[in-house]
Amino acid sequence: MAKRVVLAYSGGLDTSVAVKWLQREMGVEVICVAADVGQGGDWEAIKDRALATGAVEAVVVDCTEEFASDFAVPALKANARYEGKYPLVSALSRPVIVKHLVAAARRFGADAVAHGCTGKGNDQVRFEVGIRALAPDLEILAPVRHWGLTREDAIEYAARHDIPISATKEKLYSIDDNLWGRAIECGPMEDPWATPPEGVWSMTKVTADVPRDVVIGFEQGVPVMVDGAPLTPAKVIARMNEVVGAYGFGRLDMVENRRVGIKSRETYEAPGALALLLAHSDLEDLTLERDLHHEKARLEPRWSELVYDGMWFSPLKAALDAFIDESQRFVTGEVRLHLEPGRCFVTGRRSDWSLYDYGLATYDAADTFDHEQAGGFVKLWGLGIETWSSRQGGPVELAPPT
Ligand code: ARG
Repeated sequence: MAKRVVLAYSGGLDTSVAVKWLQREMGVEVICVAADVGQGGDWEAIKDRALATGAVEAVVVDCTEEFASDFAVPALKANARYEGKYPLVSALSRPVIVKHLVAAARRFGADAVAHGCTGKGNDQVRFEVGIRALAPDLEILAPVRHWGLTREDAIEYAARHDIPISATKEKLYSIDDNLWGRAIECGPMEDPWATPPEGVWSMTKVTADVPRDVVIGFEQGVPVMVDGAPLTPAKVIARMNEVVGAYGFGRLDMVENRRVGIKSRETYEAPGALALLLAHSDLEDLTLERDLHHEKARLEPRWSELVYDGMWFSPLKAALDAFIDESQRFVTGEVRLHLEPGRCFVTGRRSDWSLYDYGLATYDAADTFDHEQAGGFVKLWGLGIETWSSRQGGPVELAPPT
């Protein structure tokens, strides 16, 4: 039985109740670890709240730069969009939080780790599989899966035990946010036909109306510059959230397949991420050799699935990362995006490593392409088809009736 538990703490209702519940019902000491992954928040107040609720220790870890460089950037290199759409916002933050939970468990001599996820979501999977990959010896506690409290019960429990929370019985949405974007679920959106209320959006409200360009500079797949100004990956993402979000670009409304077998209606906003993904994949169009490009495109959905499914720390993910990193050697250059209300699109790209050859591509006098050779190439390319057509009659619809 666990004695000292490190709890992934957000300061919200569930994790606040969890502090008390773990102490009272499980008889353990609780150490709260809150992770700043760029979501913003009054961290001093959150720390104080954890201590006021009875935690023996409370730490806030600023992992914004780490999250950007080691989690969001690999996702960008992988052009990661789960089911072709979702840029893995929450899925990317769980493994960085897991790293810090395990580090805190070691530092404070804890024998267990706890999280405040429900039994219906993906996040429990990501926390628990991640913890088991990094620290198989640690016990895992998931109080929310056991306590069977409704939101009202939890609020009453908090009141009864003097837990300082600001939650009200009416909670509209479940929100998870970080530097890479924001996930908004529940409330009226549980009906997949219902239009998301305007109030769900916060990063993508249109405040700019004058169209503009923004130029992103990449170095080996890493975004390092915005409009000529060198920035850390975290700063690039933050800047792009502001610039692109102001044009109302970056909203998603989708039905997705959770790992636990549930289809759920999800809304996201990820202005910076979606704009950077557009720019990055466009630069790859210019710089990746054809076979490498095509093979990478086949592996990208697999990378996204693994990360969505909580397999960040897994041998397949590590092997795919090695492939993806190798593929990025020449993904260095600039992409120009154009912004206007509701839209963001690429209008230009350039690279010192560009594989675009003007002489080969042009139809004007500068043409260097050997047209004569093309005849032989096409002849051999189509030889098998020609043989099939003459011997077996070609397409079925042209074959004589039997
Ligand atoms: N469906 C998304 C995912 O599985 C978002 C989950 C966000 N969590 C939340 N509490 N709203 O990654």
